[in-house]
Formats: sequence, structure tokens, C-alpha cells
Amino acid sequence: MRIDVLTLFPELIDRVCGESIIGRARKAGVLTVEAHNIRDYSDDRRRRVDDTPYGGGMGMLMAAPPVCACYDSVLKLADLPKTKTIYLSPKGRVLTQRYASYLASQDRLILLCGHYEGIDERILEETGAEEISIGDYVLTGGELAACVLIDCVGRLVDGVLSSEECHEIESIAAGMLEYPQYTRPEVFRGRAVPRVLLEGNHEEVRKWRYAEAVKQTKKKRPDLF
Ligand code: ADE
Repeated sequence: MRIDVLTLFPELIDRVCGESIIGRARKAGVLTVEAHNIRDYSDDRRRRVDDTPYGGGMGMLMAAPPVCACYDSVLKLADLPKTKTIYLSPKGRVLTQRYASYLASQDRLILLCGHYEGIDERILEETGAEEISIGDYVLTGGELAACVLIDCVGRLVDGVLSSEECHEIESIAAGMLEYPQYTRPEVFRGRAVPRVLLEGNHEEVRKWRYAEAVKQTKKKRPDLF
């Protein structure tokens, strides 16, 4: 999968997506993440990309010309059949695991990160971007939301997770919160690992994990049922 990010802070995207599993996948060539600086497409002498809103009001808006020039240029970098453009915004549809799976089935994502009070509405019309939110709260910009989306969608792309890491996705308790897990030592500060996990009976372990997943989900996220 190829992901292009249109942003005022390309270093932020590169740093966050250069670490851990996503960083490894990029180095292995399984996932391409390229951040593009919208300022490079400003005609302004001082590389400004924002302006005051028509009709008055507080704050500044990202202007259409530099954002759309950046988008047009980035779009030409690849020609992949399933390409989807997303604008990260608290007004958007909230990202879920189910929607992340759909996004992972695309060949290419183009992510637009807003800043200031918002963007000129015509940018959405020109790019056909879908608005996606990562949760019902407001961030100072779309970059952290883009990184969350890249992490969440990226790990579902074939070849990004090792087979060991993949195991979790096929968990017996899919759709529920994960059961508790333990590693050595067997007793830590007087807290012992549940017996069933030490006895080597795989069927009993499976049943215990399923029951624990149900218990955790009922207690912490009853809305998932
Ligand atoms: N930009 C600002 N807040 C956001 C949010 N909650 N989700 C996505 N993008 C955002």
C-alpha cells in the first residue's frame, strides 16, 4: 500500500512513522509512506498557506490554491486503481476497526492534514476527500490523527505484521477485548499466573481465554456487545 500525506509538518509524520512496526514495514518496502509539505506549493513570498475567512469570524483557514496544487502534484506520483483521499477532521465519520479494514483493502491513501480553524470547503469538493475523525475530541491539527490512521490501517496490510504478531487478529475472541496475558515469572509480588495457563491443556486454555474476553468486554466496553 502507498500512503501520501499532505501536511505542514512532514517531519512529524516521518518521525512517528519511522519507528516500530510501521517503520520496519517501510524499510522492507511493504508499505510506502511519503509526507509532502503543502508550503512547497505556496505562491506566496513568505510561503503562507492560510488566509482569513470570507464573512468574517475567528481564526485562519487553509487556502485552496496551495493545498490543491500539492494534491494535483502528489496524485500524479502513482496511478493505482483503488485510491482514496481522506481529510482528517473532527467533523468526519469516526474511524473504527471495521472501517480500518476497508481502508486496508485500498491500494493507495492520500491523507490531508488540516491546521488553523479549518480548510476552504472547495478543497473537499476538488479532491473528493472523505472526512475521517479519530475520535470525538479536537486536536490542534490532523497530523497525529493521520499517524493513528496509518498505524491502525498499516498493521492490517499484508506483510506488515509477522505471523506471530498476526495471531492476535485471528484471536478466538475477535470483536471483543483481549483476555489477560502473563509471562515469566510465575509469581510476581505475590500475584500468581492463573493455574489453567500453566497446565498445558490447550482446550481448557482456549475456553478460559474466551470466558475472560467476554468478562473484560462486559466490564470495560459493554457497548461492544
Ligand atoms: N483534527 C483535529 N481533531 C481531529 C480528530 N479528532 N480527528 C481527526 N482529525 C482531527
